[in-house]
Amino acid sequence: MAFHKELDILQQAWAPLAEGKFEIFSNPILTQIAQKHGKSVAQVVLRWLNQRDVVIIPKSVKVERMIENREIFDFTLDNEDLAQIATLNRDEIIFNHRDPNMVKWLAEYRG
Ligand SMILES: NC(=O)c1ccc[n+]([C@@H]2O[C@H](COP(=O)([O-])OP(=O)(O)OC[C@H]3O[C@@H](n4cnc5c(N)ncnc54)[C@H](OP(=O)(O)O)[C@@H]3O)[C@@H](O)[C@H]2O)c1
Repeated sequence: MAFHKELDILQQAWAPLAEGKFEIFSNPILTQIAQKHGKSVAQVVLRWLNQRDVVIIPKSVKVERMIENREIFDFTLDNEDLAQIATLNRDEIIFNHRDPNMVKWLAEYRG
């Protein structure tokens, strides 16, 4: 991210809400931060990305969630929140394009 900033390149989240995986919406750290700000976990996650200049295009099939997901500009995560969220890093790639098994799965995928 620091390297991209140096080159004036904006990063875009591949899956800003982790595709709903990893029980993200019931994560205890995110839940506690959401309660502190009177926001939802999704809003905290999206604000965290936005505050760090990551472009976000969250996906939802529900209109109320689409509205919820854009209401992230009326609060600010503080340094303590940011540090707590940083501890959730998993150093995992959801979809590794260099993994032959993934490439095979994608090539054979028929929706
Ligand atoms: N991840 C990829 O492989 C990939 C690849 C190419 C393009 N994209 C694009 O990237 C964008 C992100 O999509 P994504 O599929 O990666 O997933 P995502 O945005 O990280 O997460 C979507 C999941 O979160 C749920 N969700 C959304 N808002 C919520 C809220 N406020 N509260 C609770 N749950 C919520 C959605 O469920 P509901 O729909 O039921 O609300 C869905 O299960 C999309 O525009 C997509 O087209 C993604």
